[in-house]
Amino acid sequence: MQTIIVTGGAGFIGSNFARIALRKKDWRLIVIDKLTYAGSHLNLSEIANDPRYSFIHADIADQAAMTEAFERWHPEFVVNFAAETHVDRSIDGPHSFLAANVMGTFGLLEATRRYWLGLEPSRRRSFRFLQISTDEVYGSLGATGFFSEESRYAPNSPYAASKASADHFVRAYHETFRLPTLISCCSNNYGFNQYPEKLIPLTISNAIAGKELPIYGDGKNIRDWLFVEDHCEALLTILSRGEVGQRYNIGGRNERTNLEVVTEVCAVLEEVFPAESNPALTAKGCKSYRDLIILVPDRPGHDRRYAIDCTRIERELGWTSRISFEMGLRATVRWYLLNRGWCQAIQGEHYDGRRLGLSAARAAER
Ligand code: NAD
Ligand code: TYD
Repeated sequence: MQTIIVTGGAGFIGSNFARIALRKKDWRLIVIDKLTYAGSHLNLSEIANDPRYSFIHADIADQAAMTEAFERWHPEFVVNFAAETHVDRSIDGPHSFLAANVMGTFGLLEATRRYWLGLEPSRRRSFRFLQISTDEVYGSLGATGFFSEESRYAPNSPYAASKASADHFVRAYHETFRLPTLISCCSNNYGFNQYPEKLIPLTISNAIAGKELPIYGDGKNIRDWLFVEDHCEALLTILSRGEVGQRYNIGGRNERTNLEVVTEVCAVLEEVFPAESNPALTAKGCKSYRDLIILVPDRPGHDRRYAIDCTRIERELGWTSRISFEMGLRATVRWYLLNRGWCQAIQGEHYDGRRLGLSAARAAER
């Protein structure tokens, strides 16, 4: 049986990946996670009793802990999801982004390299290290054009800068040490178990609770949305067929302004839980979820538009997204309605839905 190490597997995409990988592959799967505010065993409840699954509570920057994990489990694959991921938090406090995303990736790479060097030649050849990156490393687009794998890295937020830096280390470990690495750059994900600080889950949970739905700036910033399960399928494809040393862009060809996304969430909620039957809205005298939308001051350094050209992974590896935004959003809204307890538990004392990421703007005003 082959073994895969999934770092950051207690977070949003990592936990979806772990569930799908165990459904589709006969792998032993080891999650390594530091369990920050964004990571929880709750996200892994569906696989908790699978005998092929094990969990290690550790920081990927901890090389000794990573080496111990490699010596114990002898993986064929490492997929690195572990990261600090929220742009707004990276504006308020960039340091933890350097620690997790840059030093963390470096610690994991070093432990991987030492382990990989000790493998016999055939296992050394088939080993893969897949770095999960983001389209945000490419910066911002104007009204036209797409990010391709040849696009220049031009990160604008501390989050994007830390992910770009990690990607450069991964690339360097391939070029210098011949470590068999792959990098994937995906657009904005949505789906089950996403921490309710990101646009779609925050909008759903605020709307259900009858709270305001803040949209930054003029609401016309564009993101290219992909259902998380499509992303996970793409990653399985890259692991099995990707060309070592390559980078693959992943996207859903699904551009939407933020205002369109929030309006669509409101429309789906109206169908499945009409505002007039939601006491949180009737108490406020709101007749529809859309009444909760407000425009708020913009995010500092807010990237205007992301759009992914995913021709390479489609043509060379035969992957294509399957879930339309309409289908994926319906499933997601339903999931959050049915899992309100999860939202409360994962937010706990960590986050109450307040606006994050304005510290830079406030400092500039002083
Ligand atoms: P998330 O914030 O939901 O989960 C991150 C997980 O990493 C958490 O479980 C956290 O506990 C863990 N973690 C953080 N620092 C760690 C450390 N030092 N050591 C071990 N574990 C640590 O994030 P997500 O949305 O699931 O994103 C996963 C990966 O995908 C990230 O690398 C992110 O940059 C990338 N990505 C995300 C999106 C998106 O839209 N969410 C899009 C493209 C790429
Ligand atoms: P987010 O989910 O934070 O992802 P990212 O910044 O990584 O793209 O934000 C998605 C878009 O939604 C982004 O343009 C910022 C915007 N946004 C809002 O307008 N309101 C919000 O409350 C949040 C969290 C984000």
